[in-house]
Amino acid sequence: MIKDSPALVLIGTAFHTPTPAALEVLEDHAFVLDGSGALSRVLPPGHPDRPALVEAARVAGRLKELGTGDYLVPGLVDLHVHAPQWPQLGKALDAPLEVWLQKYTFPLEARYADPDFARAVYDDLVATLLALGTTTVLYFGSVDVEPNLILAEACLRHGQRALIGKVAMDHPETCPDFYRDHSAETALAGTRDFIARLREMAANTKDNPLVLPVVTPRFIPSCTDELLHGLGALAEELDCHVQTHCSESDWEVGHVHERLGASDCEALDRFGLLTDRTVLAHSTFVTDGDLTLMKAKGAAAAHCPMSNAYFANAVFPMRKAMEKGVEVGLGTDISGGFSASLFDAARHALMASRDAYNGTDPALPQEERGTGEKPLSTIETFWLATAGGGKALSLPIGQFAEGYRFDALIVRAGAPGSAFRTWPGSDTPGEIFEKLVLTADRTAIAEVWVDGRRRLAA
Ligand code: GUN
Ligand code: FE
Repeated sequence: MIKDSPALVLIGTAFHTPTPAALEVLEDHAFVLDGSGALSRVLPPGHPDRPALVEAARVAGRLKELGTGDYLVPGLVDLHVHAPQWPQLGKALDAPLEVWLQKYTFPLEARYADPDFARAVYDDLVATLLALGTTTVLYFGSVDVEPNLILAEACLRHGQRALIGKVAMDHPETCPDFYRDHSAETALAGTRDFIARLREMAANTKDNPLVLPVVTPRFIPSCTDELLHGLGALAEELDCHVQTHCSESDWEVGHVHERLGASDCEALDRFGLLTDRTVLAHSTFVTDGDLTLMKAKGAAAAHCPMSNAYFANAVFPMRKAMEKGVEVGLGTDISGGFSASLFDAARHALMASRDAYNGTDPALPQEERGTGEKPLSTIETFWLATAGGGKALSLPIGQFAEGYRFDALIVRAGAPGSAFRTWPGSDTPGEIFEKLVLTADRTAIAEVWVDGRRRLAA
């Protein structure tokens, strides 16, 4: 290809939120993609370089102009999905966390030792999440190594950006014999094997991998000290992301305090598991000291508002975390939450923040009812779902900036059956953005792009 000749130029109006403070409306901009799938230029109308680039793209058949009512937004980033729990979505939410794990979840996850089951479920999961606009997912897999590689294959085949962890859990008192690593040693060997094999997968380009491995202790109660310590060392040795569950229910927080005399964050830090590439699912009961520690280490929280309503019985202190500068994003927590859509998770996060702010007991006077912590705005909510998630993962995704990967959705106003509609003369660009964030559904998502390639079209 001639130097500077674009792989593709898209022209249209985009919305993005590079910071939680402001919406940027990029009206009629040209988005220039290079051959690797990165955004090389973002050019406003009238930019002197634009005519030549657009013409070159047109001549090469590489120009795409968005239609009226089509809007470009960054792809959604889901920071917490349990891939093997996909068949359980929307059911079995009648028990507290510690019962739910033993009664429903561990038996289901054990079934992935069967590769045919894994293949069928994971193919369907990845295709469905992409269609819902989720271009990047941080996945918990299961204990067995092979099914996690089958999940990676599905992500590569469908073109979804993913970070995947082999779940490590060896504690004989909290994990059933039919579903656990049989020692810290075998858990560490399995994790090491998984990381090496995922990195060697032929379709996973070495210099620009679409799928990354993650060191994944399930949570402190499921793991022995020896395993936690070994996983901290392994994450450093193999230069990996880390994910785990953190401070997610009263039972879980109490368990960790009793066993280790510390909060989850303090204990994880002692084991070397709090790094700038750590994502802590939930973190609902973190203290001010924990937030300070997370900020110091660069560890992020994945707020999962639906599972908060079932397993935490409390709302993650998002405002406090944001004010402290802790990295934050959103997760569906499939299947601890009942929706697979990150748009739904974002809307639930917004509503939960309003309920927490306002309070819920109508018998109390208004000024005594809520936390008074400022609720999320629509702009902040969208930032969490996109750029916030990208920052939490330390990946160049979630906004339309030069050098970032081109992961994007084309969202269509007025699609048949969709509630996302605009009316001539009625909606400003900012209002169209608000409507998109609060009403866009599956039928409004016309195209899904990951790493500069269209992976799905309506
Ligand atoms: N804590 C430990 N395992 C799990 C899980 O599978 N889901 C949720 N929501 N919390 C957990
Ligand atoms: Fe979870």
